[in-house]
Amino acid sequence: MKSTAAAPVVYIEEIASRVGQEVTVRGWIYNKRSSGKLQFLMVRDGTGTLQVVVFQKNVSAPLFQAVDRLTQESSVVVTGRVRADERAPGGYEMDASDVQILQVAEPYPITPKDHGVPFLMEHRHLWLRSSRQRAILRIRHEIIKACRDFYDSRGFTLVDTPIFTPAACEGTTTLFETRYFDDTAYLTQSGQLYNEATAAAFGKSYCFGPTFRAEKSKTRRHLMEFWMVEPEVSYAELDDIMALAEEFISEIVQKVVVGRRTELATIERDVGRLENVRPPFPRLSYDEAIRLLQEKGLPIQWGDDFGGDEETQLSQQFDRPVMVHRYPSKLKAFYMQPDPQRPEVALCVDVLAPEGYGEIIGGGERIHGHDLLLNRIQEHKLPAEAFRWYLDLRKYGSVPHSGFGMGIERVVAWICGLEHVRETIAFPRMLYRIYP
Ligand code: 4AD
Ligand code: MG
Repeated sequence: MKSTAAAPVVYIEEIASRVGQEVTVRGWIYNKRSSGKLQFLMVRDGTGTLQVVVFQKNVSAPLFQAVDRLTQESSVVVTGRVRADERAPGGYEMDASDVQILQVAEPYPITPKDHGVPFLMEHRHLWLRSSRQRAILRIRHEIIKACRDFYDSRGFTLVDTPIFTPAACEGTTTLFETRYFDDTAYLTQSGQLYNEATAAAFGKSYCFGPTFRAEKSKTRRHLMEFWMVEPEVSYAELDDIMALAEEFISEIVQKVVVGRRTELATIERDVGRLENVRPPFPRLSYDEAIRLLQEKGLPIQWGDDFGGDEETQLSQQFDRPVMVHRYPSKLKAFYMQPDPQRPEVALCVDVLAPEGYGEIIGGGERIHGHDLLLNRIQEHKLPAEAFRWYLDLRKYGSVPHSGFGMGIERVVAWICGLEHVRETIAFPRMLYRIYP
């Protein structure tokens, strides 16, 4: 949309370089106050907020009256000269020579007063305009970019894996089933199985996409639809993949700390805690973790899985992520390589984020022997036919290989210090909520 004036259209983020010039800014009214002959419009355009001063004598009488009737979130295109002014919020101001009003907004449901979570979730499409939500989503964007940069700069090939799949990767209890013409298909729980095929083609590969789990549990860590980045490396063993995970998480966190200082300040995140996140991360075997939890008084036995409470306890013991390895095989997925020294445990790792955030990464070594893998598929009562191609990978130059998956929303929640994953994605899919 062009302005009627000939001034260049700019974004508020570049306003500092426009002092003394006449420019046009396109945005929405965030706030407004008036004092007789002056109206002060706080205009936001997504890149920043600018105070626009409308002086009665600079515009026509009907326009001045129309400006007076502007409501929160009304859309406007304002033109005027930019001034540096210490008193103005942000340090700059615009003296308006023209205001084009695109729409006077209806009474806006989200006001500066406190709203309850259900109300905000119901208005998620509008809630996204708030400075806090925008800061979180900008940090999410930075995290995603850092993930891609990490693998791209290390020679990994990005290979997208399918969303419609014929079989389960992470257990049959959390599958979303759908029709696929005359067949049944499932929404993918993880790209891992396909990654194993691409890692044999490329040596090292990764996928990054949405994944789906019909999680019947209503917790602050679970979404039905979440994004996962999954690297897979041929010839890598458990230690190699733990080193990769440690380097990966550290790089992402430090990139956000440097690149998104403003947003971290907006959401009042304690950045000092993030600055600690550097290798090496503490490593704990499952056995050691059980002992530690028992010492803390938790009623847990060897063989039990960790729930939210156990993960919270464990992750609160350290100032950086902790890597828990070698869980009992029976707690883990069918494809986990058993430890040759102790076949009852798997060569797997979960990375738990500090400050009580819990698991952000799950992964490990995959079974590379054909017969053992076939046994496990049968033991888990999985449909062998759907895994025929997966077993093929164990027939044509099978090698040890490892990988992991990192859930983006869990990482955003931790880096931003949020109470719940619902704020980490624009439109969260949760138990009992698929609107908006
Ligand atoms: O531990 P998970 O189930 O591991 C896998 O899916 C492997 N196949 C990945 C691999 O080795 N390539 O899930 C991996 C991560 C978890 O650590 C967690 O961060 C996230 O995915 N995650 C969820 N995030 C939000 N909501 C859910 N319901 C999640 N389930 C898992
Ligand atoms: Mg897991």
